[in-house]
Amino acid sequence: MTLPFPTHGKTKEEILTAMRAARDHDVQWQKGRAFSLVYHAGNDVDDLLKEASLLFFSENGLNPAAFPSLQKFETEILAMAASLLGDENAVGTVTSGGTESLLMTVKTARDWARKHHPEIKEPEMIVPISGHPAFEKASEYFGVKAVRTPLRADSRADVEAVRKAVTHNTILIVGSAPAYPHGVVDPIREMAAIAQERGILFHTDACVGGFMLPFVRKLDYPVPDFDLSVPGVTSISADLHKYAYAAKGASVILYKTPELRRHQMFVSTDWPGGIYPSASMSGTRPASPIAAAWAVLNYLGEAGYLELTDAVMKAAKRLQEGVNAIPGIKVMSDPEISVFAIGSDGLDVYALADELTKRNWHLDRQQFPPTLHMTVQHGHVDVVDEFLSDLTDAANAVRKPSFEKTANAWMIAIANFLVRILPEAWVTALMEKVSSLMGGGGGLPSKMAPMYGLMGSLPNRGDLKEMVLDLLDGMTRYKK
Ligand SMILES: Cc1ncc(COP(=O)(O)O)c(C=O)c1O
Repeated sequence: MTLPFPTHGKTKEEILTAMRAARDHDVQWQKGRAFSLVYHAGNDVDDLLKEASLLFFSENGLNPAAFPSLQKFETEILAMAASLLGDENAVGTVTSGGTESLLMTVKTARDWARKHHPEIKEPEMIVPISGHPAFEKASEYFGVKAVRTPLRADSRADVEAVRKAVTHNTILIVGSAPAYPHGVVDPIREMAAIAQERGILFHTDACVGGFMLPFVRKLDYPVPDFDLSVPGVTSISADLHKYAYAAKGASVILYKTPELRRHQMFVSTDWPGGIYPSASMSGTRPASPIAAAWAVLNYLGEAGYLELTDAVMKAAKRLQEGVNAIPGIKVMSDPEISVFAIGSDGLDVYALADELTKRNWHLDRQQFPPTLHMTVQHGHVDVVDEFLSDLTDAANAVRKPSFEKTANAWMIAIANFLVRILPEAWVTALMEKVSSLMGGGGGLPSKMAPMYGLMGSLPNRGDLKEMVLDLLDGMTRYKK
């Protein structure tokens, strides 16, 4: 399918009408219906973010010398984050998001090791399996092997497994505060001590918790040590566009020393276009996210964040108690924060997610074991009762036997049998078929439970990777 380049322009009204209509099927985050992707602190904060973004709509963060305003915002954001995260002398960069912050950490570690450990030719980093896939991405981009280590029964990193995984090639150890899947904080102090003993780097991925855990602790909830004040922690990432409630496209990466940060930076001195320095991944950098982040930190201040955090933690506790009160499902582990997973020993949680989708709630499906993910943020404070009531109904619906469930179970069993006996290349085609049978038609299937059941038990993860790449390929092609 092709789309010719528009011959003539349309009116502003026509364009905006089309854009508004295009949103009709989007997740209704405004009504607290999405448990990921959007963080909403209220309309007053949104208005400020929009105005601040518009004020700096055209500026470019590529050249701080041309825009001292942006330089002021960025350095102040970093200094404020450093004060919050355990070392006011830390230095860093505002990046476009958690992924860029993590990419930068790994690139920095690689180049630090090239200088300080030139004998290491095949660098490795240790990342517990709950660590974000951005580390895998960084591994592919920068050639640092990601060694994944197992978790303890409470979903936190197994410190002894980390210790055993260290080799002469290890340059970096990573812990999460918290890890996304179960919302639990890794034993950062013990893990960082291993890095310190070996004279290597340690990164705390506080992309989710960086702008929340300090306030959670101030509100007297138990929070283990995780930040730059912990001996051995050499860098930390914290996303402004998550619990700092900034506009999207903003995170910070902070390093213990300027010497470390130097390894992140890039400069080209021989280009005919001039000397070209760049601190992070992107060249041109939108100024709006930086401006909006500066605005919201100053608008809310500690008092504002404490108020938001208090409301969010109370909502999360009520949700967790509500989940645990429903027979057959439970909150996994004991999360320190308002991020958690709903699991079950007997109920099909993927079917539960489908039932919730029917009721217009959107929860991400997780695996190993199957769970549903909840990121509770301020936009959920007023929907706790409504959600729990629908969750109870959804669980009741899943408990009832139905033809559909039996058919799904058969489909999974047959497909599982087939993938064992079919040649590898056929499996991708089969998965496409299964996807369209489930209502996918090349995109993501509308009913996910059977798909997830099948994917979870696929013997060959390589096939699964190909299948997902096919779906991604399909989603980024023009369809009428
Ligand atoms: C722990 C953790 N690190 C990093 C990231 C990546 O952040 P982003 O999506 O902003 O790139 C996420 C995203 O959810 C996360 O949960």
